[in-house]
Amino acid sequence: MMIDTHCHLSDEDYDNKEEIIKHMEDNIMIVSTASPKDINEVVNLCKKHKNIYGTIGIHPEFADTYTNEDLKNIEKYLTYSKIVGIGEIGLDYHYTKENKEKQKELFIKQIKLANKYKKTIVIHSRDAIEDTYNIVKQYKNKDIKCNMHCFSGSLEMAERFIKLGVTLGIGGVLTFKNEKKLKEIVTTLDIHNFVLETDSPYLTPEPLRGHKNEPVNIKYIAAKISQLKGISYAKVLEITTQTAHRQFDLKL
Ligand code: NI
Repeated sequence: MMIDTHCHLSDEDYDNKEEIIKHMEDNIMIVSTASPKDINEVVNLCKKHKNIYGTIGIHPEFADTYTNEDLKNIEKYLTYSKIVGIGEIGLDYHYTKENKEKQKELFIKQIKLANKYKKTIVIHSRDAIEDTYNIVKQYKNKDIKCNMHCFSGSLEMAERFIKLGVTLGIGGVLTFKNEKKLKEIVTTLDIHNFVLETDSPYLTPEPLRGHKNEPVNIKYIAAKISQLKGISYAKVLEITTQTAHRQFDLKL
């Protein structure tokens, strides 16, 4: 069994969504909101499909525009058992540095919600790794699980996050020809710290780059990890599935 721990399946992303979901029939998807307007859609997908779970949250891109209604909507659904986390939330200074303080404030508010409802935190962090680390360290309760979606930091940073009990989401970037940092991380660190993700419809792995990504492509990421670590493909799936299962408290 494969678990795609982070993908987006909004109607805007796919016009053949049901077909895409069918490709993952015997596997599990954790669908994430990209925008606050996706919250209801994610909840509905969880209700409709046995093998879909969700995480909901306000992406830092919306730090200037989100409303209190959005936060209330998230809080309302955090009590639903198939919503297994809050995310993706975090900091994105690549997108804009102008509103750092607002981004931090929104991030902290949502970490507090995760603490309150005991949900896993799924982090988006871009060009903001140090601030992300400090906030997680300071505000996340010890018993709250946390996943760094599409980890893109250094090996040293990966080790620091792992010490906080954070797992690293490994995605299509690992298969890119010129990618070195993530390959070093995967080669060096214990596989038990990794979960697999596609971030569909983005970040399509080799050999399919140029096409729209979809959750079933998780197999290419598992294959690359198998090759880099010299562990069988089946073993990669077994271990990463167990980790994802534990990290998101999936009631299978
Ligand atoms: Ni994403």
